[in-house]
Amino acid sequence: MKTYKIAVIPGDGIGPEVIDAGIKVLEKAAELDGTFQFDFTHFPWGCEYYLKHGKMMDEDGIERLKPFDAIYLGAVGFPGVPDHISLWDLLLRIRKEFDQYVNIRPIQLLNGAPSPIIGGSKETVDMLFIRENSEGEYAGAGDWLFRGKPEEVVLQTAVFSRKGTERIIRYAFETARKLGKSVTSISKANALNYSMVFWDEVFAQMSEEYPDVKTHSYLVDAAAMLMIKDPARFEVVVTSNLFGDILTDLGAALAGGMGLAAGANINPERNYPSMFEPVHGSAPDIAGKGIANPLAAVWSASQMLDFFGYDHLGKKLLSAIETLLEEKAVLTPDLGGNASTTDVGRRITEILDNMEDV
Ligand code: NAD
Ligand code: IPM
Ligand code: MN
Repeated sequence: MKTYKIAVIPGDGIGPEVIDAGIKVLEKAAELDGTFQFDFTHFPWGCEYYLKHGKMMDEDGIERLKPFDAIYLGAVGFPGVPDHISLWDLLLRIRKEFDQYVNIRPIQLLNGAPSPIIGGSKETVDMLFIRENSEGEYAGAGDWLFRGKPEEVVLQTAVFSRKGTERIIRYAFETARKLGKSVTSISKANALNYSMVFWDEVFAQMSEEYPDVKTHSYLVDAAAMLMIKDPARFEVVVTSNLFGDILTDLGAALAGGMGLAAGANINPERNYPSMFEPVHGSAPDIAGKGIANPLAAVWSASQMLDFFGYDHLGKKLLSAIETLLEEKAVLTPDLGGNASTTDVGRRITEILDNMEDV
């Protein structure tokens, strides 16, 4: 039987809580399919590990992760460790070292999910964000000069390479073509007179190679407004690292909240493992209470199944989430219920058990 080796990094705060539920759902999906199994290996890395060992992950951590088929991550970051250390030494390090340059974040308002969009539906709030995930504003280039002095200067330089920009925009066009959808580029060339002028130029060049794909282009400020006023105009969306980070939290709010926002960090060439993780963080305000919504983690698990080629199973997971949302009987407090994280995980596996033709 085919075995998929999964590295599990539950991480901090609600990370371990939602990942536990996600693993049970993945195991159920494999059991129902019957042709493959998962072999999960847990890594204890995160902020607690840092406080004990002075590092976010082991020195050979990246080498040890390499042989896995995928990584399943909860969340990283917790009060007590500066965020720029915890994130740069673990989550961002993995994204960069494994060249996971595509961050895929679906924003779809599933049936039964709450939304501030009046009359919003599964058809009208249905965006697929393709966020550049390896460079841009997250290049980590900069300096901090004359620290603490009156002449103090900090530099944070965004880096947009032709290779990096072309590959993410091409990925978006390929995805849009496959889905028969339009592609929207979000940038900011009126103010960012080098990086975003370049981005727009690459987008225009690339669009000539895909004459069959309809395109739109918006400035990021207008795009934020339009995502709320007229979300239906966004289908496949491609944008830079930072804009994608911000707009996908906005998107999460449109489609049921952070507890439903899923993401996949993909290395399309499959030279390295890809990483699946909810968009949300460690939620220190509710950590340890057992009430975190695990559905984002479950949706990310469904992206993992898609990635391994089991699209039918990925779809089943989404439809199980939808059934649970429509039943409204077993929901965590963020969705207006009083169920626990484990209750929701258990209900999803029950729904899967009772579903036909898995
Ligand atoms: P957050 O996403 O952790 O929380 C924002 C709000 O959403 C909180 O009120 C939280 O309770 C709620 N929320 C988030 N996920 C939820 C869930 N599954 N169920 C119910 N409610 C949920 O963002 P933050 O508070 O800005 O960040 C907290 C920490 O997490 C910081 O250290 C930050 O750097 C880190 N962070 C990590 C990741 C990641 O690992 N991918 C992502 C974002 C933030
Ligand atoms: C996300 C997170 C990360 C990001 C942080 C924690 C570095 O907000 O995955 O959206 O900005 O990419
Ligand atoms: Mn974010």
